[in-house]
Amino acid sequence: MCHNDNKVLRTGYLVSKLGLVCEYRFLMMAIGVAAKVNGAHECGRADPNMEAFKLAPCASAAQDENASVSGSCCAAVRKLGQNPKCLCAVMLSRTAKSSGVKPEIAMTIPKRCNIEDRPVGYQCGAYTLP
Ligand SMILES: *[C@@H]1O[C@H](CO)[C@@H](O)[C@H](O)[C@H]1NC(C)=O
Repeated sequence: MCHNDNKVLRTGYLVSKLGLVCEYRFLMMAIGVAAKVNGAHECGRADPNMEAFKLAPCASAAQDENASVSGSCCAAVRKLGQNPKCLCAVMLSRTAKSSGVKPEIAMTIPKRCNIEDRPVGYQCGAYTLP
């Protein structure tokens, strides 16, 4: 989007103006990425990549839709799910991914736990909580 097209950018003014816009966009992108990485917004001060370890009891249930969900997994999901944004960030976290968690299956865990007040319809990345 921000590549220079010399045919369009005839004047130095335009070049510098667009340059600024590109720099601004880049800056906002960098800030967005940083916020995502440290997860400051999703789980309060906690890092979703660290919070993901709390879902360790869910490892098998998050990889196999037919696996039974343990009580300790449900308890952990219920707790994290009080902040759907955090639960979502955790399920999409690097930690979860590198643990073999399949997001589309992980999203079904609150339902499989029959958590009554789960955030049905919550949009988590490309997924919708059932
Ligand atoms: C889960 O069970 C369904 C229905 O029995 C089956 O079609 C599906 O392949 C199973 N999935 C896995 C991952 O075993």
